Amino acid sequence: MRRILVTGANGQIGKVLVAELRRVYGRDSVLATDIKKSAENNEPYEFLDILNENRLYEIVHDHKITEIYHLAAILSAHGEWNPLKTWNINLNGLLTILELAKKKDIQKVFFPSTIAVFGKTTPQVNTPQDVPLLPETVYGMSKVTGELWCNYYHKKYGVDVRSVRYPGIIGYQSIPHGGTTDYAVEIFHEIIKNNVYTCFLDGDTRLPMMYMPDAVDATIKLMQADAAAIQTRSSYNLSAMSFSPRELFTEIKKYFPESEIAYDPDFRQEIAAAWSESIDDSRAHKEWKWKPSYDLARMTQDMIENIKKLY
Ligand code: SER
Repeated sequence: MRRILVTGANGQIGKVLVAELRRVYGRDSVLATDIKKSAENNEPYEFLDILNENRLYEIVHDHKITEIYHLAAILSAHGEWNPLKTWNINLNGLLTILELAKKKDIQKVFFPSTIAVFGKTTPQVNTPQDVPLLPETVYGMSKVTGELWCNYYHKKYGVDVRSVRYPGIIGYQSIPHGGTTDYAVEIFHEIIKNNVYTCFLDGDTRLPMMYMPDAVDATIKLMQADAAAIQTRSSYNLSAMSFSPRELFTEIKKYFPESEIAYDPDFRQEIAAAWSESIDDSRAHKEWKWKPSYDLARMTQDMIENIKKLY
């Protein structure tokens, strides 16, 4: 019997992933955990600080957990405000979970990595899978190291751990905090409410992005794939679309012709400038049949339709 635990379940991806996992596997098969309780009903739920190793062990045993989707982390921008705390949270939770898997207390682990693993020495256009990784944010450093630990636990102990490098994720279900790609969600809310948005990135900074349904679909597909198909045990490149703030605004303006944008780059511009523009994710296509459904136009239309309902 499959019993899933999701850490960071109230985060941007967690909320939507938990709902979809419950739709697929049944409500009681998916335990949401977080250090915050969500306003919505997200039962079954347990409070969990990912650094509390004993509590994590207890929850895994009490709920007879078989799989963990380990989403709890501090993102790129907030990570720079508190580097050591970020390192601690982003890495030590993962190591506890990998140890549980090594002891066969759980059977499968999902670890989200990110485009933040790339750095100034990485080719930026159509970035291949195996490239130099020299990130300069603590978030990126912690995720590269996490990927290496995943690969190590798989090769050395046979742990079934799977991972993707998420691009910036866009969804209407929540407003993300702490990331560098957050502008691509904020812009929709601000333009729908006020017809104007001031972007914290420069207009021409192209980044890889993905609409939430594709991110959730990729995650579940990867976890459902035959173990033999998963040849990459560090983390898979993953991609759907790439655009700059200017290109996104041009698309949104088709729906709001009166809207305006201004650019006022802050410290996040430097973070974004070191990341890739576009990603070669052919290995994910080949090994576990990944295929995105949303491009810029379709994503924009769906975001607008859904965010309009909120205001
Ligand atoms: N969305 C993340 C961030 O901006 C990237 O993984 O930090």
